[in-house]
Amino acid sequence: MKKISLTLTSLALALTAGTAIANCDPGERVVKFSHVTGGTTHPKVVAANSLAERVNTEMNGKLCVEVFPNSTLFGDSKELEALLLGDVQLLAPSLSKFGSYTPKYGVFDLPFIFKDMDHAIRFTKTEEGKDLLLAMDDYAGFVGLGYWMSGMKYFSAGKELIVPSDAEGLKFRVQTSDVSKQMISAMGASPQAMAFSEVYGALQTGVVDGQENTWSNIYTKKFYEVQDSTTETNHQLLAYLFMTSSEFLASLSSADRAQFIQIADEVTQAANLNVKVAEAANRANILKAGGKINSLTPAQRQQWVDTMSPVWKQFEKDIGKDLIQAAAGA
Ligand code: SIN
Repeated sequence: MKKISLTLTSLALALTAGTAIANCDPGERVVKFSHVTGGTTHPKVVAANSLAERVNTEMNGKLCVEVFPNSTLFGDSKELEALLLGDVQLLAPSLSKFGSYTPKYGVFDLPFIFKDMDHAIRFTKTEEGKDLLLAMDDYAGFVGLGYWMSGMKYFSAGKELIVPSDAEGLKFRVQTSDVSKQMISAMGASPQAMAFSEVYGALQTGVVDGQENTWSNIYTKKFYEVQDSTTETNHQLLAYLFMTSSEFLASLSSADRAQFIQIADEVTQAANLNVKVAEAANRANILKAGGKINSLTPAQRQQWVDTMSPVWKQFEKDIGKDLIQAAAGA
């Protein structure tokens, strides 16, 4: 990779979009990493750029990773298909977006199953958690390289939400997750699945009234600008499957594959160590930018738990009772 040959325009674009622009040399194999998040402080942006920086330095002359953030190459609906077609080699989609490939990842979406991100990280290190990395390998050729935590999720809406009955009758944008859809229905609200890139516009124009996301997504996508407030429900995890295809891995020499996997593993560990700090910083950024955050008393929070937890039962068969117990008890 040539180190310094950015034009002013590409540099400006890179800084605004959080892109790690690589200038690949002719002999290097270009590895495209597409994702949907933006800004410069988002945990996924930081981790993807760090992966690119490390591969491009340590595997210089062999692999050259180019990162395309903010749905600039592929959005939610196309990225998995693009990976299978070989149009991109690395992705980090939310675990909530794999419903058409496996019901197992629904375990990560069950409301209130994880007390916090440390609990979720503990689960990903259990045998059950590690096995799930390859849940789609057999039939889809997708290979999980690691779990990247993003944060716990919070509800925002065009009106203040303090107890679940405040959400009754509202429309909430959700990811393409059956668990999330049922969870919203349990609140007496309507779920509407939509791509991440469309959420700001949908909130602004009133196509939906609210959404659920992490501090980092709410800040970097400016959702707080078009919502009354965000409530600290802490109800669900958002985490990513940092992934590639078995075809890409098989195409590397065994030495290159081992080096790439080693870097991927170290970047994953570092990303998960830094995520709590990034989330706290983006929570503070929302307040600094004028966004409003509602805290809950334990009794108010308990109402959210009581309303949404019955959803577990509906997915026990698809996800598996043992897997749910392993995650809850990790
Ligand atoms: C992401 O963080 O990758 C997107 C999350 C969403 O679709 O809400």
